[in-house]
Amino acid sequence: MVSAPHFLSIENEETSSFSNEQLSQVDAKTETYGHWHRRAGTGLLCGVLNIRPDRDFSGRRMDAVRRHAIATFSRPHGGNLDENLRRLVAAMSKLTREDVGLDVKLMRDIREAPVTYVSIQEHEDVTISMFVLRHRSQLPLHDHPLMYGIIKVVSGIIEIKNYSFIEDPTESLRQQEVLVKREPPRIISETDPPILLTPTKGNIHEITCRHSAGAAFVDVLAPPYGTLVPSLGPRSCFYYFESDEQPANPETARFIKSLEHPEFWTDVAPYCGQ
Ligand SMILES: [Fe+2]
Repeated sequence: MVSAPHFLSIENEETSSFSNEQLSQVDAKTETYGHWHRRAGTGLLCGVLNIRPDRDFSGRRMDAVRRHAIATFSRPHGGNLDENLRRLVAAMSKLTREDVGLDVKLMRDIREAPVTYVSIQEHEDVTISMFVLRHRSQLPLHDHPLMYGIIKVVSGIIEIKNYSFIEDPTESLRQQEVLVKREPPRIISETDPPILLTPTKGNIHEITCRHSAGAAFVDVLAPPYGTLVPSLGPRSCFYYFESDEQPANPETARFIKSLEHPEFWTDVAPYCGQ
């Protein structure tokens, strides 16, 4: 049984909505659309430090997620997007730290960066990555302009605070200040189902590590940052800060956007999973 993800009702669907021919045609060509601040990488080789001979790759769960994600978001969308999203979420709900080759030392070591970024798949229509957080570290409030996003915790516990656009999300892209609806904050662990955000619902969020041993989550985003939004240009990630003038309604908030964040940045580590 697949549990219901947040922001999207889901029934027990685990079989692929794509034919084998469709999945086999998925083109894994890569393009780079970096958006997170990155400094020095670890320079470690997976083959030396991370791949253990007893690893079980028989499930190929990450490979299934990769194929479903690309098939779901490749342009033009084939079939029913909502149905395809449900299948993708179902595939992601099975992911484990072993599937993504998580090096637990990344969660515990004292590192200069608050968060470590691991690139899993950079495709022209979808980005798949993993974020590794040390205890109490945080991805500050940021958005995903006109994008879908799916988060699956694979280790530890995170607290996530989501906000939804009240006005049309395309119009919000043109504004320096935005009025948003607060969604209930949640504590999410590796046993919980994935979280789905849409271009409107839960599109802005803040993620904080709430486990003393750290946390890690897989992030599927589409379309990728850097792709063109008609009449607006490349899709950028904005950070959000609370305005001094807050609305009277406590269920809403007013944020000011910025392309920069004074404290947040990431380092990078190699992907060592399937
Ligand atoms: Fe995010």
